Amino acid sequence: MTRPDPSPLAFVPFVSVANMMRLVNATGTESFISELAGYIEEDFRRWPDFDKTPRLASHSRDGVIELMPTADAENYGFKYVNGHPKNTREGYQTVTAFGVLASVATGYPILLSEMTVLTALRTAATSALVGRYLAPKGAQVMAMIGNGAQCEFQALAFRALCGIDRLRLYDTDPAATQKARRNLAARGFTVVICKSAQEAVEGAEIITTCTADKQYATILTDNMVGSGQHINAIGGDCPGKTELHPDILRRAEIFVEYPEQTRIEGEIQQLAPDHPVTELWRVIRGEAPGRSSAEQITLFDSVGFAIEDFSALRYIHAKIGGTDFCEPLDMLADPDDPRDLFGMLERAR
Ligand SMILES: NC(=O)c1ccc[n+]([C@@H]2O[C@H](COP(=O)([O-])OP(=O)(O)OC[C@H]3O[C@@H](n4cnc5c(N)ncnc54)[C@H](O)[C@@H]3O)[C@@H](O)[C@H]2O)c1
Repeated sequence: MTRPDPSPLAFVPFVSVANMMRLVNATGTESFISELAGYIEEDFRRWPDFDKTPRLASHSRDGVIELMPTADAENYGFKYVNGHPKNTREGYQTVTAFGVLASVATGYPILLSEMTVLTALRTAATSALVGRYLAPKGAQVMAMIGNGAQCEFQALAFRALCGIDRLRLYDTDPAATQKARRNLAARGFTVVICKSAQEAVEGAEIITTCTADKQYATILTDNMVGSGQHINAIGGDCPGKTELHPDILRRAEIFVEYPEQTRIEGEIQQLAPDHPVTELWRVIRGEAPGRSSAEQITLFDSVGFAIEDFSALRYIHAKIGGTDFCEPLDMLADPDDPRDLFGMLERAR
C-alpha cells in the first residue's frame, strides 16, 4: 500500500544556528539589526494589539529557565530562554534560546528558530532603538561594562542606530575585554580599555551595563553617573539580580518595556511598587515624552519582553520565505483524514 505524502503544513521551516549565521552574514550584521529594529518599533507602536503576560520563570540555584509567550490576531510566538551566569566558567553560554511562531488561525507552528544568536541581536536592536529616543543628541561615546556574549552586538546596534563609534570597555575578567577589543577594533570602532567601571563611564554619553551575576550586584554607584547620561541596563533581569545602586534609580527618569514584568525582574524591583516609570511603547507612539532635557539622566531598565522576540521571529519568517536559509522539519503529525491519527501510525509500520 502506498503511503500518502505528508501535507505541506506538516513541515515547519527550521532556522538552525548555521543558517541563522549565514542569514546574518549575508544581510550584514548592522543592516540586520536595523531591519530588526524596524520590526520591533512597528510592534511597539501597536502594543495594545498583543496578549501580554510577565514571562513564566522557573528559578533554580544556578539559573533560570523562562518561557516568553505573546500573540496578536494573526500569530502566536514564544521563546524558551535560560540564564545561567556560572555557565561560562564551564565553557557554556550564559543565555541560550529557541523560539516558535505559529498561526493563530490553525494553531500550527509556521517557524522554529534558533534564538541564541537572535536574542543577542534583538536585545541589541531594542537597546539601540530605545537609545534613539533617550540618549543625548550627538552621542558618540559608550561605556560598556560587561564584555561577554552580548557586548559586540550592543556596540554594533548603537553604531547602526545612534552613531556611536567610540567605546570604553570594562569587565572584571580581562580576557573578556581583550576578546571584545579584538572583535570591535576589527569592526572599525575606537576602543579604550579601562581598569574599572568608574574609569569606563568617564566622558561616556551612554553607559551600557551587561554583566551576569546571580545577585544584587552594584556595577554603578550614584557618584559614577552624571547629568545627561543615558543608562542602558540590560544585565539586571531576574528577581535578586540587579546592577545599579538604588540611589541612581531615584535620580533617573525610568523607561521600561512591560511594567508588570519589569517590577518583578528589573532594577526597579529595588523600588516601591508604585514608583513612576514610563512605558516605552507610549514614547514610541509619541504619547509620552522620551528625553525631555539635556541634563536628565535616562535609564532603560531592560529585562527583555516577549514582543521583542515575536518581532524577531516575524522578521525571520518574512526573510526566509523562498530561500535556503531554512530547512523543512517534519514536526507536525498531519494525517489526510484528520481523525485518523492512529491509521497514519498503522500505515507507517
Ligand atoms: N535585557 C535583556 O533583554 C537581556 C538579553 C540577553 C541577556 N541579558 C542579560 O545580560 C547579561 C549579559 O549576558 P551575556 O550573554 O553577555 O553574559 P556573559 O556571561 O557572556 O557575559 C557577562 C560578562 O559580565 C562580566 N561581569 C560579571 N560581573 C561583573 C562586574 N561586577 N563588573 C564587570 N563585569 C562583570 C563577566 O566577566 C562576563 O564577561 C546577563 O545578565 C543576561 O542575563 C539581558
